[in-house]
Amino acid sequence: MEKNIYSNVSLKTMKLDFKKTSLEESQTALMVVGFTEENVTSPPAPLRRAVENLANLGDFKGEKGTSSLIYTENNETPRVLLVGIGKESEIDLETIRRVAGSASRVVRDTGVKKAGIYLPSFTTSSLKQHDVAEALVQAFIMGSYNETYYKTKELEKIKRIEEITLFDPNYYKTLEQRANTGKVIAEAVNYCRKLAWGPGNIVTPTMLAEEANRIGKDQNLKVTVFDREKAQEVGLHSFLAVARGTEEPPKFIIMEYGAEHKETVALIGKGITFDTGGISLKSRDEMSSMKADMTGGAVVLAVMEAASKLSLPVHLVGIIPATDNMPDGKAYHPGDVVKSYSGQTIEVISTDAEGRMILNDALSYAAKNYQPKAMFDFATLTGAMHVALGDHAIGYFTNQDWVSEKLEQASEKSGEKIWRMPLWEEYDEQLQSDVADIKHTGGRPAGAITAARFLSKFVMETPWAHLDIAGHPEQKTDKDYNPKGSKGPAVRLIIEMLKNWS
Ligand code: BES
Ligand code: MN
Ligand code: ZN
Repeated sequence: MEKNIYSNVSLKTMKLDFKKTSLEESQTALMVVGFTEENVTSPPAPLRRAVENLANLGDFKGEKGTSSLIYTENNETPRVLLVGIGKESEIDLETIRRVAGSASRVVRDTGVKKAGIYLPSFTTSSLKQHDVAEALVQAFIMGSYNETYYKTKELEKIKRIEEITLFDPNYYKTLEQRANTGKVIAEAVNYCRKLAWGPGNIVTPTMLAEEANRIGKDQNLKVTVFDREKAQEVGLHSFLAVARGTEEPPKFIIMEYGAEHKETVALIGKGITFDTGGISLKSRDEMSSMKADMTGGAVVLAVMEAASKLSLPVHLVGIIPATDNMPDGKAYHPGDVVKSYSGQTIEVISTDAEGRMILNDALSYAAKNYQPKAMFDFATLTGAMHVALGDHAIGYFTNQDWVSEKLEQASEKSGEKIWRMPLWEEYDEQLQSDVADIKHTGGRPAGAITAARFLSKFVMETPWAHLDIAGHPEQKTDKDYNPKGSKGPAVRLIIEMLKNWS
């Protein structure tokens, strides 16, 4: 197993600095300055001539998503990137994130290693300076993510911003704190992306367990990993049914943060490190994308680490059932009956519906052993969810309206779109089995909903939400703060929700 080429390369981080200076006094290799359509006509003094020229030529009007790189006669700040943020009345934090995300790649591609952002230029009368600071830093670090771990040639041509400085004549403490929060969240997203997009031969269950242990060591978290034998002893038979067909050792990973906090929240992530479909083998087209079938697990790892860095006010239990789903002489079959950790028996219809086989055990395990106030699971669970919502929103299901409210608030704040799907009991008809307590698939109609209904049988009345991120992980081209590759879905959303948990 080519282990080291991946796990020895840790995520590169961007240094963040602050300078309490006016635009005139600021010195940086490249300064990013935001312009609304209105204030293009009244640029700040040091940039007046240049911006007026551009505006007169019609080359830069402050329109959202446009930018213009200019070279000044000032040797202290030789480059300025003018970034359009649109009409003042339409600007919200998501606008700031999007324009900053795109701008970060323009900055990166100039080749500068250090850049500055002139913070007041991005703040409008309806926005708070510290909210803007968090949004800008977050989008900058997310947008310019381009780590290549597996290339061996022309590495010197890979460009990276190593340091950003926020310039603001009105520096205050909260500003620095919130900018740092933005950095921690963006790095969590990038870390999730790195794992999610990592190849299946490298991002194995063993590697995920090593990552959990690394985070445990760095952040002083409790980490427990069950191997195949231990999982057998504990009774995680539904999880193990999927793991039967692989020689890659499965790992059932449990992490704990913040035991001193009153309320417990469990986070559960689907950790299928490669999904061939098993005996119900997938077709060859696009099977390679199933390397990302552990995105849910990556979300949990990323959120656990960020939770500790941000000292979030909640006791978190993170669980990642991790295994490959492979066809093999020992693999589970369609028609098998499997006993779950909950005691319920499950009739297997398609071995390709493996996500719900590993998640049901993890959900019951969390509910029974930790009695959480709420549980959230993240899973690239169904192609049907992608069909329903496409690439722009995460579909979620919950058995409690108050859980929905928490998610919706966090969605509004983080800018990560979610859409509530129905969890009506009528759909249970499709899951009736002649031979076992329940069958695990319900045919093509409402495929995402029947999957959620199936999971709901294993939460033991615990308030719970299931986030089906199947439609969401991949960005096909660079866009706003999402470069091509994994989006690192749900990470921002969940951190935002947990920030305000108590
Ligand atoms: N990991 C897949 C779901 C998936 C498909 C995620 C495409 C991202 C893109 C999951 O394990 C799966 O195979 N689901 C089946 C369920 C079916 C057999 C009931 C599906 O969606 O086809
Ligand atoms: Mn599958
Ligand atoms: Zn899968």
